[in-house]
Amino acid sequence: MPELSVVIVASDSEQRAVLQVLVDGTSVARAVHTCPSYPVAATDPVVRRIQTANPEVILVDIPADTGALALRAIELLHQELPDSALFAIGSMSQAQVIVNAMRSGAREFIERPTTTTDLLEAFVRLATAQRKVHREGARGKVFTIVNAKGGSGATTIAVNLALALQSAHGNVALVDIAQLGHAALHMNLKPLFSVADAIRNLHRLDSSLLESFMTRHSGGLQLLAGANTPVGLEPSTAEFARLFDMLMSHFRYVVVDASSRMDGTTRLVSNLSETVLLVTHADVASLWSAARVQQYLGETGGRERVQLVLNRFRKIPGFSEADAEAAAGVKLLWKIPNQYFAVSTAIDRGIPLMQQNHTDIARSFTGLAARLTENDADVKRTAWSLFKTV
Ligand SMILES: Nc1ncnc2c1ncn2[C@@H]1O[C@H](COP(=O)(O)OP(=O)(O)OP(=O)(O)O)[C@@H](O)[C@H]1O
Ligand SMILES: [Mg+2]
Repeated sequence: MPELSVVIVASDSEQRAVLQVLVDGTSVARAVHTCPSYPVAATDPVVRRIQTANPEVILVDIPADTGALALRAIELLHQELPDSALFAIGSMSQAQVIVNAMRSGAREFIERPTTTTDLLEAFVRLATAQRKVHREGARGKVFTIVNAKGGSGATTIAVNLALALQSAHGNVALVDIAQLGHAALHMNLKPLFSVADAIRNLHRLDSSLLESFMTRHSGGLQLLAGANTPVGLEPSTAEFARLFDMLMSHFRYVVVDASSRMDGTTRLVSNLSETVLLVTHADVASLWSAARVQQYLGETGGRERVQLVLNRFRKIPGFSEADAEAAAGVKLLWKIPNQYFAVSTAIDRGIPLMQQNHTDIARSFTGLAARLTENDADVKRTAWSLFKTV
């Protein structure tokens, strides 16, 4: 692995010196420049100096007291130096800061006090991701599936959406964070490990260890299985932020089955998501619940990310789709037909609908996957090259 050039931005002089020693100590990277102040505008001389250094990585320290300034700097540097990878350094106890840093453009969040090993692992992950052929340096997108009300069909949708994305684009992970994980059953898989194992080993988790915790489905989809008992040690949301940070840097698409889990973890993962698919039926109680769930998930921002999926859809005289949207207060994204026999047989046999060709419902999942990825540049490229070969 070639030596990476690193710029360190930290207002605290001691922290700046410590980071410099740690970076150089990894022996795969070298600190080429350090900045004592956070840039506040594109015209700031600090930005120019960093550009001149042309770093592959910029480490931004997020102090507890002036966090907002550091977050603004991350956003600015992400815009001004789009080819440099931004690593944020801060406290793991503030889940919202982690989310904000990642949304501002940081691709890694590293805990303070930092060790040489933490930095080394982050540098290795960066080098591995850059080697991957998928969209250069970009992070994967997360789609989270939550229920308005228990049993609305979240797991069915998560499993089949993940399979549809896998067959269209490859490099997809399905992560089961439901209170009791059913996704493996839907795919007739017998996982040896689960999300809990990945969380327990976060301190040494790299891409190969992560993959060893995942169970591969025949078409290539990788499942990080859920809990097989309803009681378990509740990991902190900060640990989930760290896990998803890694998932997003290794997979092109990450589909999350949250089913009916409604807690800080689901909210955190929703915050990291491109789109949250809120699954509901079209009855009054379900739509009322959908409105409440959207309110809960949107409390920390990003309400517009939550979109409605009407499952078991059938036309009801006198009740339109606009009525459903108005009742839930959520924009309609997709409708999935009601096919009880096909769906329940698929679950009982562990053969997902996407593996059974030509059913209406499988076409609906393919359409949903296409809709969710329609603006992704690489998808357009794929379509173009397919067209050329015809
Ligand atoms: N489109 C559909 N048409 C008919 N039946 C469906 C459809 N989608 C799901 N079902 C049925 O709904 C039931 C629940 O499905 P699923 O396990 O996917 O729900 P869930 O929302 O994940 O449940 P939980 O809240 O327990 O996690 C299943 O028995 C399935 O057969
Ligand atoms: Mg479920």
